[in-house]
Amino acid sequence: MNVPFFRPSVAKADIAEVVACMESGWLTTGPRTKAFEEAFANFVGAKHAIALNSCTAALHLALEAVGVRRGDLVLVPALTFAATAEVVRYFDAVPVFVDADPVTLCMDPAAAAETAAKIRRGEQLPGMTLPYGPMKAIIPMHYGGQMVDVDAITAVAKEHGLAIIDDAAHTLPAHYRSSASAPWRAVGSTADVTCFSFYANKCITTGEGGMAVTDRDDLAERMRIMSLHGMSKDAWKRFTARGSWYYEIVAPGFKYNMTDVAASLGLSQLGRADELLAARVSVAERFIAGLRDVPEVETPVELPNRKHSWHLFAVQLRLDLLDIDRSQFIEEMKARGVAASVHWLPLHKQPYYVQTYGYVPSDFPVAAAVWPRLVSLPIFPSMTDEEVEHVVRVVGDIARQHRKLG
Ligand SMILES: Cc1ncc(COP(=O)(O)O)c(C=O)c1O
Repeated sequence: MNVPFFRPSVAKADIAEVVACMESGWLTTGPRTKAFEEAFANFVGAKHAIALNSCTAALHLALEAVGVRRGDLVLVPALTFAATAEVVRYFDAVPVFVDADPVTLCMDPAAAAETAAKIRRGEQLPGMTLPYGPMKAIIPMHYGGQMVDVDAITAVAKEHGLAIIDDAAHTLPAHYRSSASAPWRAVGSTADVTCFSFYANKCITTGEGGMAVTDRDDLAERMRIMSLHGMSKDAWKRFTARGSWYYEIVAPGFKYNMTDVAASLGLSQLGRADELLAARVSVAERFIAGLRDVPEVETPVELPNRKHSWHLFAVQLRLDLLDIDRSQFIEEMKARGVAASVHWLPLHKQPYYVQTYGYVPSDFPVAAAVWPRLVSLPIFPSMTDEEVEHVVRVVGDIARQHRKLG
């Protein structure tokens, strides 16, 4: 049996929506994009949603809107995807890495607090050049679909006057609450701007796509304008009876708008977001139960005050108990028909960041130590019972066969 790392869940209803869009005569940003934005804002409980062609675009626009400029400092996780930090470099601003929490693998709020305090005091930090520019923003990323410690990150941001831009590429839907008696808060309602991805393997998809959500009118307006060449009016309004041919360019913007073709798929997928989540939760629960008695493989922990979206199921190998390394483990999985992935080589170990900032692995010890142990198992809504059982069997068998003796 072969289990792919991911298989998109495209329903007949999704296809019908795309066909209806194609037949409508309106392909680019238009009524379906508007409808998707409204439905999405409603779904996450935010005032504004701006549909874009990627999460990377959303992160870029969010930083621009909160005023990040050349030389500014932005706190980002060391353990994240390229996009989270590269968008800071778009401004020739400085991504300041923060180490990971060993349990959630999200940004560690204590490390963020320490880093921000050191910047304030002008103390030397790894990879950084004194004197420091102004510290403007923090980009917590919800690793794998489990939200960061929102209260602790918010406290750091408040103390240092930082805008919070959430990288929620993995996270729809997901929830956080401060305590067992506090109300659940949805991802998208806890930051200044929250950025979602609809890339093919994400919780819902538009093929490629993203969304920026915010409660702030000023940020929404700026992001909307900058998403389309800095035009003061939406292009689709220009070409409808309600619009006019006239527009003004108020800033040198970007070309980040979502098409109606993508939005039609997004609208339909959003309607299935809870159903898709329930299917992933079921897979995750069976993985956790099935691997409970395999000490060589630590399964991810869902904290009691979080509701995980289970975009990823990243296990951590106990290499001290195994006679093979992570690469060999993944090769053995592949040989038995199970695809795997790794999220991620920490950014401070990536050649660009090593060469530009001179980082060494020990600068972010948690991220550096966890990286050789990480293996993301396949998890997606259309996984069959047989596929789930096969993954559990293969991972368990490899661990048992490679148990270190003595
Ligand atoms: C954590 C994280 N942030 C941002 C992105 C970028 O998303 P997009 O491909 O929609 O730009 C990804 C993509 O995988 C991601 O994993």
